[in-house]
Amino acid sequence: MKQFPKDFIWGVAASSYQIEGAADVGGRGESIWDRFSHTPGKTFNGETGDVACDHYHLYENDVKLMAELGVKSYRFSIAWPRILPRGRGRVNEAGLDFYDRLVDKLIEAGIDPLATLYHWDLPQALDDEGGWLNRETADHFAHYTDVVSKRLGDRIKMWGTINEPICVAMLGYFTGMHAPGHQDETMQEMNTALHHLLLGHGKAVRVLRQNVPDAKVGAMINIYPIYPATEAEEDKAAAERFYMYHNHWFTAAMYTGEYPAEGLRLFGRATPDIQDGDMDIISTPTDYIGLNYYSRLIAAYDPEANKPLQVKIVKEPDVEYTAMDWEVFPDGLHDVLTRIYKEYKPKEIIIAENGCAVNDVVNEDGKVIDPQRVSYIKRHIHAMQKTMQEGVPVKGYYVWSLMDNFEWSYGFSKRFGIIYVDYETQKRIPKESYYTYQKIVKNNAIN
Ligand code: FCB
Repeated sequence: MKQFPKDFIWGVAASSYQIEGAADVGGRGESIWDRFSHTPGKTFNGETGDVACDHYHLYENDVKLMAELGVKSYRFSIAWPRILPRGRGRVNEAGLDFYDRLVDKLIEAGIDPLATLYHWDLPQALDDEGGWLNRETADHFAHYTDVVSKRLGDRIKMWGTINEPICVAMLGYFTGMHAPGHQDETMQEMNTALHHLLLGHGKAVRVLRQNVPDAKVGAMINIYPIYPATEAEEDKAAAERFYMYHNHWFTAAMYTGEYPAEGLRLFGRATPDIQDGDMDIISTPTDYIGLNYYSRLIAAYDPEANKPLQVKIVKEPDVEYTAMDWEVFPDGLHDVLTRIYKEYKPKEIIIAENGCAVNDVVNEDGKVIDPQRVSYIKRHIHAMQKTMQEGVPVKGYYVWSLMDNFEWSYGFSKRFGIIYVDYETQKRIPKESYYTYQKIVKNNAIN
């Protein structure tokens, strides 16, 4: 049995659009994910988050399940269009009231809230004005942060600004797989959206410092460790180039205040319009890095692939994959934690998301037995613990996810929860992994 520090934070994570449902309830405005998921062909089976887990109505029950699980913290996100239905202007009190009730319930149950301010549900009205391509969206985000933190900052002491900036930019403005579904192959849109998002992050950090001086503030970033396909110099260079493009580009901006020269060269003309003072705002100091980790990538040099990257992503045969077709690679968590700590020396790191999708089924006894998830979670916790023992200050771990939910363009076809959700009846069934995690949390140790 290997013990964790007494103050280690065990948690579970989820996000507003993926679980809340109640899309038209309580004065909520339309988000880009409502628009996108209602557009034919964008999501699996045309599924939407209209109802999802109906957490908006069932939150008390969900908090109870968390309390039984024993977690110390719940990472959720606030739906911007519930607070400001058009993204700016009129504040919707009913939206604030919902999070007020949720936060009170959590605190009553002894669970600390960790609120993420942007987990992808941008108000549609702001997208109509250009969304993240519009620099002003960063100011609107700061204003929204002000409204929310003035109301909830007396009780929420852990804040996350933005979730996975590179996903927002790449999937939303380059591949088009996520809302708002743009496909700009020049990458100009991707880098512009990213820059404004980072600007929004920095501005939000400053607002939070003012409104909630005793809060811990950070961003949630997804960093893939990237390994060369072979030991050949060309492959090693390809892996580093891909790391730069996918990870270092924006993390260097956030944590050192500079876009790396190598990235400026790689992106060529597709770089953002950087105005005076932007980099200072973007690199406003934070208290922690929230790392979302799921898998790794393997890169090979490919002269035929798009210049200037000339990288092809390859897959290992005969290794374990999850239902997302993501390789299970716990050592990657160790490697990526070690690297970001070495490069940016954050005061603290929390694993803000880690988990896996499994094709779960309810068995004849009404139970959900998910050994693959149990093993995934345990192996990643082991990898994290090893890294902590080597001196990397990891202070918390959040399982993605509390319960099965709307997995973006995959709709409800991918189940990440440690609680099974029957979407017909909204019945929740804790899976075997829930009970495994409950033991880890209770013992504050893993065997
Ligand atoms: C992350 C997202 C989260 C969830 C998991 C599986 O990229 O932050 O909302 O979809 O992946």
